[in-house]
Amino acid sequence: MNIDLKEQWFLGPVEIPSRLVLAPMAGVSVQAFRRQGRRYGAGLVCSEMVSVAGIQHRNERTLGYLRVGADEHPLAIQIFGSDPGAMAEAARMVEAAGADVVDMNFGCPVKKVTKTGAGASLLDDPDNACRLVEAVAGATSLPVSVKMRRGVENGSRTCLEVGPKLVEAGASSLTIHPRSAKQMYTGTADHAVTAELVSLVDVPVIASGDITSRARAQSVLATTGAAAVMVGRAAQGNPWALREIMGDETEPSREEIVAELILFMRETVRELGEHRATGFLKKFYGWYLGRGRFPKPFKQELVMLPAIGEVESRLLAAAPGARFVLERLLSELPDPADEILLDSLPISIYGGG
Ligand SMILES: Cc1cc2nc3c(=O)[nH]c(=O)nc-3n(C[C@H](O)[C@H](O)[C@H](O)COP(=O)(O)O)c2cc1C
Repeated sequence: MNIDLKEQWFLGPVEIPSRLVLAPMAGVSVQAFRRQGRRYGAGLVCSEMVSVAGIQHRNERTLGYLRVGADEHPLAIQIFGSDPGAMAEAARMVEAAGADVVDMNFGCPVKKVTKTGAGASLLDDPDNACRLVEAVAGATSLPVSVKMRRGVENGSRTCLEVGPKLVEAGASSLTIHPRSAKQMYTGTADHAVTAELVSLVDVPVIASGDITSRARAQSVLATTGAAAVMVGRAAQGNPWALREIMGDETEPSREEIVAELILFMRETVRELGEHRATGFLKKFYGWYLGRGRFPKPFKQELVMLPAIGEVESRLLAAAPGARFVLERLLSELPDPADEILLDSLPISIYGGG
């Protein structure tokens, strides 16, 4: 199949340099994850879903999600909510934060979100869904995209009715994860639905769900006509999946794995602070060191260590050559001071820089 993943495309006026998009994932898509995704070939990266209620209440942790690094662009920040006014205000904040795209979450299947009329429940409330898109598109000069499921119930085809209306309301792109909200993450993503959606709208469609290899990426692009594929779980602790999808099948060395993990740990500590990062990082140890790359007890040992500094020492002892790979990675990164700060927010949110 002759599909060029390195081909550029446009989301509104924003040029996306490859046909690979890194998925928004709550509890995963921190800045370190997104920056890494860009380095490994993702043409567009996305923040995790950010609550517009949290933005409205100037919740410190929520505002932290609006922190944008200089080397992330193009970047979408995803917002969720159900009130047009609050969504519009959040969109303005997203623009001020320096994002390139405002993404709206119409796909989250979690009760806590759907019971407020947000996330996937909007697929069953097309009037409000359209109002939200209109409000957001009217509030920002950035292009607006919507990410959605196929519908709420199993086998639902609601996205095919709602999708074109969202485009009419002002969406410049649609991302479809063709599972129902009921399915959560079970079963498989039915990209026949993606192909139908592509045929119904004249904006780029991004296909999300079960893209785990170059072969799968190429076949979904070829059979659906989607502008890009989105990769989520396959990239957790595994940027090399992105590299493989982009055409480089080189397996990472132990040194490369350890160096990327340590860089990820250091950046996450800078972003979340040591305390929050300690718990956040535990799942990443398994993701990085699994897949038969390191013995299982090693991962269990790391999870038990109380301080991140100890984890780093233990990792370097297991792969001493990682030190040199890490030095090279660090020398290639831009200065962290290049982050865009929101002038109107208290500096303490960002730890001064
Ligand atoms: C842990 C986790 C968190 C997620 N959080 C979000 C989110 O915040 N916003 C969103 O639109 N989708 C979210 N998703 C869905 C993914 O973006 C993606 O559509 C889904 O995982 C299917 O793609 P995959 O098979 O490549 O993982 C999440 C998925 C996972 C596994």
